[in-house]
Amino acid sequence: MKIADRVQQIPPSGIRKFFEIAEEMDDVISLGVGEPDFTAPWAAREAAIDSLKAGKTSYTANRGMRELREEIAKRVASQYDLAYDPDDEILVTAGASEGLDVAFRALVDPGDVVAIAQPSYISYVPGVTFAGGKPLSVPTREEDDFKLTTEILDAHGVADADMLVLCYPNNPTGAIMTEAEMAEVAKFVREHDLTVLADEIYADLTYGDEHTSIATFEGLRERTVVFNGFSKAYAMTGLRLGYAMAPPEVIAAMNRVHQYTMLSAPTTAQYAALEALQSCDNEVIEMRKQYNRRRQFVLSRFEEMGIDCFEAKGAFYVFPKCPWDDTDAFAEALLQEQGVALVPGHVFGESGDGHLRVSYAAGLNELREAMARIEAFLG
Ligand SMILES: Cc1ncc(COP(=O)(O)O)c(C=O)c1O
Repeated sequence: MKIADRVQQIPPSGIRKFFEIAEEMDDVISLGVGEPDFTAPWAAREAAIDSLKAGKTSYTANRGMRELREEIAKRVASQYDLAYDPDDEILVTAGASEGLDVAFRALVDPGDVVAIAQPSYISYVPGVTFAGGKPLSVPTREEDDFKLTTEILDAHGVADADMLVLCYPNNPTGAIMTEAEMAEVAKFVREHDLTVLADEIYADLTYGDEHTSIATFEGLRERTVVFNGFSKAYAMTGLRLGYAMAPPEVIAAMNRVHQYTMLSAPTTAQYAALEALQSCDNEVIEMRKQYNRRRQFVLSRFEEMGIDCFEAKGAFYVFPKCPWDDTDAFAEALLQEQGVALVPGHVFGESGDGHLRVSYAAGLNELREAMARIEAFLG
């Protein structure tokens, strides 16, 4: 059967390759996945079970259950100073992933230039390409702690792009942006009339500075789609639930794509998410505390080993320099010889080359063992 060109031009995920090798091996410690090692809070799981027991197995409204949208609106208003109307400015999606895909399809015309701040989550370039857009790589630099600056935006022709995709706290670097730094990006976006897709899925996972959404700056709300979800902070990856927030005409357009493809996000997961917002704050705080402890441990161990690693302050990743020039060779040898799986940074865009993504969403004992093995590997 003929496979469409736009699909053929996208290579399979570079992360998967390492999982496939790891799956064939015994005693592997994987610090490669972007997934919490915690399980979802019990109350959220129980709400999902109760919903099934009560026979809640139908579709919901396309945009998601009204009660859930109200709860999301309350949460983002109190926590991130974002005011969205649950009636027509919030779309509940099957993970942030679906939200992003729907946004690309609803907002990108063939040939539109979509600037992507990199290193970045691996779905943006394929998402833009599937929608017929042209991805424009905007490389951030380690010397700026992988923050996006107006100098970088200028130097890479983002002024002439149609859209900018950014993700802070960042996957894969763990970088965050302060309010003042984000204000500069917001000014650039306003001046050059760009649309922004802000992937804020790690917003709850910062260690030190609180997250500032780009949509909070003057003139940005009307040109931004904000994405968030339950996968990371609530450890609910498998439940597949996220949400997008934007002005009514944008949500209406996204909902048109969503209603013909997804119909509605998983109903059981929506009940879990509702409960998560209503009663699971303490669990989120506890998980964040534990991530922070692990982050500090991993950073200090890399320092002891003499591996250069910038101080990541968000998400659950650190992004050390690779001690070898060839990051693929390093990652493969480390996996084969010591059974530790990491991801080469170039998987997240050329600007990630020379680095390794290390996820610390693993227990402290596992992290201790993984670090000891890396130390042994380095000799
Ligand atoms: C930056 C970023 N955005 C989106 C996603 C996907 O999230 P979801 O599980 O809500 O689809 C991930 C998952 O790793 C991610 O790292």
